[in-house]
Amino acid sequence: MVEQWESTVTKFNDIQHHLREHRYHWLVTGAAGFIGSNLVEALLKLDQRVTGLDNFATGHQHNLDQVQALVGAEAWQRFSFIDGDIRRQDDCAHACAGVDFVLHQAALGSVSRSIADPIATNETNVTGFLNMLTAARDAKVRRFVYAASSSTYGDHPALPKQEPVIGNPLSPYAVTKYVNELYANVFARTYGSESIGLRYFNVFGPRQDPHGAYAAVIPLWIAALIGNAPLKINGDGETSRDFCFIDNVVQANLLAALADQPGAVNEVYNVAVNARTSLNQLHRMMCELLQERFPHVRTHQPEYVGFRAGDVRHSQADISKAATLLGFAPTHRIDEGLRQAMDWYIHDLTGENT
Ligand SMILES: NC(=O)c1ccc[n+]([C@@H]2O[C@H](COP(=O)([O-])OP(=O)(O)OC[C@H]3O[C@@H](n4cnc5c(N)ncnc54)[C@H](O)[C@@H]3O)[C@@H](O)[C@H]2O)c1
Repeated sequence: MVEQWESTVTKFNDIQHHLREHRYHWLVTGAAGFIGSNLVEALLKLDQRVTGLDNFATGHQHNLDQVQALVGAEAWQRFSFIDGDIRRQDDCAHACAGVDFVLHQAALGSVSRSIADPIATNETNVTGFLNMLTAARDAKVRRFVYAASSSTYGDHPALPKQEPVIGNPLSPYAVTKYVNELYANVFARTYGSESIGLRYFNVFGPRQDPHGAYAAVIPLWIAALIGNAPLKINGDGETSRDFCFIDNVVQANLLAALADQPGAVNEVYNVAVNARTSLNQLHRMMCELLQERFPHVRTHQPEYVGFRAGDVRHSQADISKAATLLGFAPTHRIDEGLRQAMDWYIHDLTGENT
């Protein structure tokens, strides 16, 4: 597997080289969020021109401030920000004007949030998505790359997950993400639009929000462990996920935008690493990484609570389609990603450098 990764990672090197020589105009929606802000950072570092759109529903100005500090003043001049809402057609049209590629990340994430308020999730994730797809079509953008989700696999038990084999959605969130794929497909057939959907599996890394009722498991647990707060595991801890470090997701987006292999466009792709980590394993890995610095973690015991509604039991991606058609080759496994993420969270939560 390692050799395969090393041989194919050259495709991403080629794309980065191409981008340094050719400046495009990118629109990143959800730019103040976790994944969006990482995409903005990567694109600015590759000399690209970037417009960001966000309404700060779950994103933060401090994410953009951090990107500004990381890329420097010259690169930041190539960034413009629209404080706008994808539920408004005008905002979408304004944002798409003159854009070559859209990386559409704006959405209300979280299965639990969608169960608590399906209408709000639908408005942003379905109506907002359709607004963006229509605006991109009207503005004649070259390609629309969008954040799909592994939740689309629903209750289908097959492992690893292969793109054509999906089950019934288990939450309103999963419905919205599947509807995105259906709309993208219909726009390709009806209007000749070009799109690529990236079914992210559990993504983690710097700038993922550790706070709030709907925080994802990795930032939530890091914050709990560092703060010596109680930590809950839903179910028996044997629920498993294909945790995917943010750099792999950035790579997939850039490859998808510029993919030129026959048959690569108007498809959906799994984006993960083809590995599976249980929640119990994740807890142990985190404690090991933190224990030297935070000795209280050595005796930390999680509290086991009931299974959570809408959660898929196991998840693992077959990434051969993305490898073959996009040249996708993840550079970070969970342990490498966790180490990098941990350094960022220690600094973010305690103000200390590692
Ligand atoms: N993080 C994951 O593990 C994961 C997994 C699968 C899919 N996804 C998808 O990836 C995308 C990005 O997720 P993330 O983890 O970065 O979440 P995030 O909450 O950090 O980012 C989403 C961003 O979208 C913005 N947004 C929400 N509603 C908006 C609206 N109406 N108009 C404009 N902006 C709006 C938010 O303010 C936020 O900045 C989402 O589409 C999500 O569904 C994420």
